[in-house]
Amino acid sequence: MAFYTLRLRDDDVVEMLDQRKLPLEIIYVELKTYKEVYDAIKDMIVRGAPAIGVSAAFGLYLGAKSLLDLPEVNTCETFKNKFLDIAGFMFSARPTAVNLGWAVDRIKGLVETGTDLKEIVGRIRAEVLKVYDEDIEINKNMGRYGAALLKDGFNVLTHCNAGALATAGYGTALGVIRAAVSQNKKISVISDETRPFLQGARLTAWELMEDGIPVTLIADNSAGLLMRKGKIDAVIVGADRIASNGDVANKIGTYQVAVLAKENNIPFYVAAPLSTIDINLESGDEIPIEERDMEEVLTVFGKRIAPENAKALNYAFDVTPNRFISAIITEKGILYQDYKKSIADAFGK
Ligand code: MRU
Repeated sequence: MAFYTLRLRDDDVVEMLDQRKLPLEIIYVELKTYKEVYDAIKDMIVRGAPAIGVSAAFGLYLGAKSLLDLPEVNTCETFKNKFLDIAGFMFSARPTAVNLGWAVDRIKGLVETGTDLKEIVGRIRAEVLKVYDEDIEINKNMGRYGAALLKDGFNVLTHCNAGALATAGYGTALGVIRAAVSQNKKISVISDETRPFLQGARLTAWELMEDGIPVTLIADNSAGLLMRKGKIDAVIVGADRIASNGDVANKIGTYQVAVLAKENNIPFYVAAPLSTIDINLESGDEIPIEERDMEEVLTVFGKRIAPENAKALNYAFDVTPNRFISAIITEKGILYQDYKKSIADAFGK
């Protein structure tokens, strides 16, 4: 893979591939403050649940380090209070992906102990690099488990982008496809274009083509026809948050694909790390759904495509009830119905 999604450089600059510009321009932005990282998450320079989590962790490190330069931050107490303010700010960048809160909580835990501020900041740096490395490792493990579900010759439909671009690297849903391809299975990907941000057209098609994996784009409203024609053997998507009963929040449009898959007897798989499971939520009804600016629907690349003053709804995610999900692929193995039980077991509850 000739690109990277994000990284923390040795000089403490966060570099991110600007996903708003892909595939027409390949531009890396340099972020030097936690506020810039917050804006990058909010404005979708970086997106995808695991990548948002890793970005937030990097942002928190930049925030913690910046506190060392403030004369008023001279005790552990003042450091901790200011750091918690930064953590709260970072947490508010986007509401649906649970990985963001998960990463913030993990880093927040590090300011609870220690008295030497420089040492605490050093520990935070080491931890955020660990979060990054672990994410790639987890994706590879998920790939190893999930590849068994994809047979040689399969045409696999995916929605949005759950690839290297949505993670620190390798990807969740696309990681499973990469793993199957690395086992010499012939897999062809059908990618929904994924209006309005076009993650499928701009990102999934681009990253799979970079890897030489066959990919064909379809308009979002084509999946039903292709399924009825027998041209899709399996669906695999990522997730932004999974409730403890297995209901899955993912990119808007996932739900309708899942219903169509069930109607056509096609397996519908979700690939997600255990950190995407919000064990505190009973069902998907409790998952907060982000609503974004309606201009994203009313315009394409800054050009208006609807009448002046037209209104639009722009929910960024939907929830697929667990009964439509054939399996959830995690880094610890594949979970099946009854999800309430298999998820509780995976968490050792
Ligand atoms: O709005 P986005 O692009 O952040 O939404 C991303 C998705 O819905 C992905 O499918 C999900 O985060 C899983 S990514 C491994």
